[in-house]
Amino acid sequence: MLLLGALLVLGGCATQQESLAACLRVAERGLRPVAEERAQRFLGKVREDTARCRGGDRAVEARSLPWVDWQNYWATGDGSSLAPRSGSGHLSPNGRGIDGALLDLEYQRIELIKFNLFDSSGTFADYVRGRDGVGGPALKVWPEMRLPKSHPLYEAVGGDQTQVCGGEIIRFRGLTGLCNDIKNPLMGSSHQPFARNVQFEVTFPDLGRNELARNRHGDRLGLLKPDPQVISRRLFTRAQAQPDRCHEGHGLPGAPADAACDYKKAPFFNVLAAFWIQFMTHDWFSHLQEGHNAPGMMAVGCATESVGCRPGDRIDPAFIAESGDPARFTYGGKEHLTRAYKTTQNTVTAWWDTSQLYGYDETSRRRVKRAPGDAAKLLLLPVGQRAGMGERQGYLPLLEPSDPMNPQWAGQEATAFPDNWTIGMSFYHTVFAREHNLFVDSFRTQAAATPGADSGLRNPLRPDQVIRYRDVTADELFEVARLVVSAEIAKIHTTEWTPQLLYDEPLFLGMNANWSGLFRGRELVQAVLEKITVNNFGRSTDAKKATQWYSVFASGPGIFGLGNHVYADDAIFAGYDPMKTDIWSLKNPDHINGGINHFGSPFNFPEEFVTVYRLHALVPDLIEYRQWDAEPNQVRNKIAVVDTFRSRATQAMRERGLANWALSMGRQRLGLLTLANHPKFLQNLELPRLASATGKIDIAALDLIRDRERGVPRFNEFRRQYGLRQLASFDDFVDTRLAKGSPERAEQERLIAVLREIYGQHRCDAAKVITEAQVNADGTKINDCLGHPDGSLVDNVEDVDTVVGWLAEFARPHGFAISETQFQVFILNASRRLFSDRFFTSSFRPEFYTHVGVAWVTQNGPDKKMEKGRPNGHEVEVSPLKRVLLRTIPELAQELDHVVNAFDPWARDRGEYYSLKWTPRPGAESDPAFREPK
Ligand code: HEM
Repeated sequence: MLLLGALLVLGGCATQQESLAACLRVAERGLRPVAEERAQRFLGKVREDTARCRGGDRAVEARSLPWVDWQNYWATGDGSSLAPRSGSGHLSPNGRGIDGALLDLEYQRIELIKFNLFDSSGTFADYVRGRDGVGGPALKVWPEMRLPKSHPLYEAVGGDQTQVCGGEIIRFRGLTGLCNDIKNPLMGSSHQPFARNVQFEVTFPDLGRNELARNRHGDRLGLLKPDPQVISRRLFTRAQAQPDRCHEGHGLPGAPADAACDYKKAPFFNVLAAFWIQFMTHDWFSHLQEGHNAPGMMAVGCATESVGCRPGDRIDPAFIAESGDPARFTYGGKEHLTRAYKTTQNTVTAWWDTSQLYGYDETSRRRVKRAPGDAAKLLLLPVGQRAGMGERQGYLPLLEPSDPMNPQWAGQEATAFPDNWTIGMSFYHTVFAREHNLFVDSFRTQAAATPGADSGLRNPLRPDQVIRYRDVTADELFEVARLVVSAEIAKIHTTEWTPQLLYDEPLFLGMNANWSGLFRGRELVQAVLEKITVNNFGRSTDAKKATQWYSVFASGPGIFGLGNHVYADDAIFAGYDPMKTDIWSLKNPDHINGGINHFGSPFNFPEEFVTVYRLHALVPDLIEYRQWDAEPNQVRNKIAVVDTFRSRATQAMRERGLANWALSMGRQRLGLLTLANHPKFLQNLELPRLASATGKIDIAALDLIRDRERGVPRFNEFRRQYGLRQLASFDDFVDTRLAKGSPERAEQERLIAVLREIYGQHRCDAAKVITEAQVNADGTKINDCLGHPDGSLVDNVEDVDTVVGWLAEFARPHGFAISETQFQVFILNASRRLFSDRFFTSSFRPEFYTHVGVAWVTQNGPDKKMEKGRPNGHEVEVSPLKRVLLRTIPELAQELDHVVNAFDPWARDRGEYYSLKWTPRPGAESDPAFREPK
């Protein structure tokens, strides 16, 4: 306060003085409390003086919009968002902008943890009511997570006694994901139900099972209502300037460079990033089993042939696990459901365990091939005689006829998760198989140099017995390599992919905080966060509050490695301190498990998470193919992605080689996640296995159908449930920062008109309450009129499919390749998948990873390397995927020398402070991609 006051007296211009005065008022008032009730949530909207303190007039003006306020604070955009003549200290405008944004994001996370956890496996009643005097959110063990009697490991984990996994089964990431949490053996393993992030009562709105749902949607919804293929054709289709050069996404015969399929491009994110996220989703979740949905066929064609849609399309229906009436319980005078009206299962492990490469059940594991000469390694074979140092590391073998597989996968590379295989999947599976083997080589080099030294590894059955390098078996080393590769992937995703997906300073800091802590050099933020938590929870004995406190404090040291050192007198949050005696012990289950926190709700991904990962618009139709050793600036071919579908990916990989594909996808921009930008080829994907009249399916339409089958609430209620502001009409989607009459704004207005035509309007009835997730600003209930006069004609904005809604969010924070709605889902779930995993927290130790493994993950490889210069003002390590690529495709060293983040188009000049400009770096001026329109 004193400092702010002094600054105010000495302050410069009038605007700065006004904003400092606002800061004083904010400081006087103190921090806002965390909401006690769902309906009082933060919503990412701050008071006027808070906005003025953190972003001046611009931030104040944007408060009336539905979108979160922090995006208008100082320094949260590119150079133009920096306050003039401001330093970067915490009390400067730029510092206030960044710290304010981080604070807003932390409030969101606290409230998401508090209001958005809904487990589907039977634990929800305990979460609400508590058990044996412990508040629900502080519960740590659930009977529903016990192994059943029929399970082969039932006796091993304790049978009908308290179940605690121990011995061999806790050493590594088990095939089916059992025993990650040693006290909840079943959690996160294959075939567990998907969770929800929304109240069970708002799922399956088309069933009209309660009054709120009926009030919200009338009888306007159905599986094919509004018509998904019409939505796809009219709202998702990419406009083509030269359709005869695109041919519905197939390009031209022979793939010449003058083929052309137009798409809207993100200048700061490359095609490698698109396939990265598909590669990740194959690890985290799948509804399909061995490439199949449920038996049977359902019609999914459009009602009448128009706008290019197909009435004859059919597909197999989604698997449903439970569909009977859910049990109910009463608490606090209110009736609750114990699960959603229907549930679905996650076929794969929910852990970040690279199950797409290593397997998630016996069937998938049989597809994984180990090297006959060294069982610690994956089998990689030489292919052809291409130039390039990485070539000798080899390529994945093909599936053999005797392998278990869906016939459509024949001829593909052998790997655990072979579905929807394209060149992108072939690329990442090969890269990480090479990385696995390189780690094994490095370990063996160390073992050869110091065979009698302590490898760090221990067997919990004999915890005191040192395992020397020479004694580590091939099977043990294979599993250690899996742990290492999985942690590397999690680190790439958290500190490299996500900060480029959300390319601005608050998210750079926030994501690095999730991994390695927020407060290195940011003591003021730490002090402020401590204050929020102490004010709100510090004196509370309520276990629920203590868990929220935990989430905030975890931002201090970072989630990764939480609890992997234990000091006699310190809390779990204590960072590593070489001066203290570490008493962490493999003999103590509470140490092995001590760093995890599920916040009272067993971990699995929610159905809503899958929805916001329906990112098909990222994929271009054609890949601009280049060669690394013959003028990389030249585009030699335009290869249709669909011509690399399934076994053709394998052929394309083998014919052209990993380095050329890396360069091609590294340089090309991916598709913006927005309306009118879905790949043509995915709207017309041939799936012969369906044996339908058309033999084709529209994947963009199917994205909507699957969400409807699985009961994802529609966009407006989805936002209210997640603690974001609702929209009152379709016009709210338009980005009002764009000049009226500008071509971008005109295009948005055109699409909004189509949205209105498709979803329609109705005369509203103010007597119909539509939600209990939020209330109006004046405390009244939100009704069918959404603030418009009773009886007036209002947009059916409540009916918009969630995928359509987030694609239509034209207004986004700077550098966001996704919308704020999608991001809100990530804040919660990206943190949880670290918080819940013992191998990323308290078991990130040499006893599991070996000394070589711990160092490899910590340093991004065998040694530590710093990046040149100070990208965006930070000193950074050479990023982890760049390091992986330099090892697995060393022939790209020269190209990668210019790259800071492997997901930023490789020939782009990154410019100053979070620039999104599409201009070539020195040496790439002749690259034709820079002559194309933005
Ligand atoms: C280029 C290649 C791609 C092809 C051919 C493809 C194809 C498909 C197909 C056929 C389905 C299954 C539909 C069903 O029966 O339910 C699907 C689902 C899905 N795809 Fe893609 N996709 C591609 C790229 C991507 C990318 C880049 C992402 C980004 C994350 C993605 C995310 C998803 C998700 C989240 C699902 C739902 C999975 C589930 O239900 O468990 N896909 N895709």
